[in-house]
Amino acid sequence: MNLKSLFTPLRLGALELPHRIVMAPLTRMRAGAGGVPTAMNATYYGQRVAAAMIITEATCVSQQGVGYPNVPGIFSAEQIAGWKLVTNAVHARGGRIVQQIVHNGRMSHSAYMPDRSVPVAPTAIISAFGQAFTPDFQLVPFETPRALETDEIPGIVESFRQAALNSREAGFDAVEIHGANGYLLDQFLHDGSNKRTDGYGGSLENRARLLLEVVDSIVDAIGKDRLGVRLSPYGTFGDMVDSDPITLYKFVIGELGKRGLAYLHLIEARASGVSLAEDPTEKFAYNAEIFRSAFDGPMISAGGYTPESAAEAIEKGNADAVAFGRFYIANPDLYERIKGKSSLNKYDRPTFYGGGDHGYTDYPTLAESSVSVVPQTTPVATAIS
Ligand code: FNR
Repeated sequence: MNLKSLFTPLRLGALELPHRIVMAPLTRMRAGAGGVPTAMNATYYGQRVAAAMIITEATCVSQQGVGYPNVPGIFSAEQIAGWKLVTNAVHARGGRIVQQIVHNGRMSHSAYMPDRSVPVAPTAIISAFGQAFTPDFQLVPFETPRALETDEIPGIVESFRQAALNSREAGFDAVEIHGANGYLLDQFLHDGSNKRTDGYGGSLENRARLLLEVVDSIVDAIGKDRLGVRLSPYGTFGDMVDSDPITLYKFVIGELGKRGLAYLHLIEARASGVSLAEDPTEKFAYNAEIFRSAFDGPMISAGGYTPESAAEAIEKGNADAVAFGRFYIANPDLYERIKGKSSLNKYDRPTFYGGGDHGYTDYPTLAESSVSVVPQTTPVATAIS
């Protein structure tokens, strides 16, 4: 298959990408104490600098927004200083890096909350699936969250706005709002998790209000050409349920379209749950087929792509760029490997979250792999498990 559509340049707002192979946001739970990025994190991102653009792991906008152990934040001076190690490592080698910012909402645990009370949510509804991850990496049942008071919502918006300013101070080229995968902004969008009766619940306009207020406040702070938004229209992770998701996302994406953002980043249906579709030949509609007409700007697509299917999606106009997640975990030189049609390292799932260099900075490049034993390489076509 001809991969040439992956290798043409692309403009995303203020960013000029030399090609279309993006590194997806990937939580790795390896930040230092206090959610401060370390030299090891800088090494990891620096190794992946040939990506058209790196999107960081979800980074918390406030202590209340933390939901996992050892994840980074962007709300303290120490965190900003730590992230400068990362942005400097990437920029020194000519790369581009965007910070994904998140508030976990109910996908959290009281151990992370500043006052040790239960996590916050649109409504006091517990996620029916999954478990909380405690600071010492134990999986425990979720607690029933507390509904945010209406007068607390401006503080949430402000935490995102300040985080975006902090990201810029730390040297990031742009910011991506994490509106996907069942976290706070997504919890507000869906009528299964949002039963509010104030201006932030009920109608589509009301459920989308928090996300759009966050978007508008960040546009105001750092400019629309340095802001992207990630959504998962078919996402079920975090027990996301909606009575009419297509209408919901047409509305939300249409509203984002009016704002002229740098890009929209959508997760495809085949990666909607915790893992990929069982049958890789199963046919799903591309997000673009349903939502493209609502958004008149560049679209990044993610979820279960191989180099071949990514090139095809771009060729057919179903994406402008493709973000690779697990392949970027396992292949620091993914861009060079795709360019050279080389085999890809297989990812090692047990080392996704937490730990040190192993499974993080020690995946071999192609040049190194001739002397490396673990992890082994597998052909592209069979590498997704
Ligand atoms: C993810 N994903 C993810 N998404 C996101 O928006 N923010 C995040 O911090 C993370 N973290 C994360 C960690 C790990 C270990 C995995 C495997 C995934 C989802 C990711 O960005 C991507 O959408 C999926 O991995 C699907 O793409 P691939 O892996 O099929 O290319």
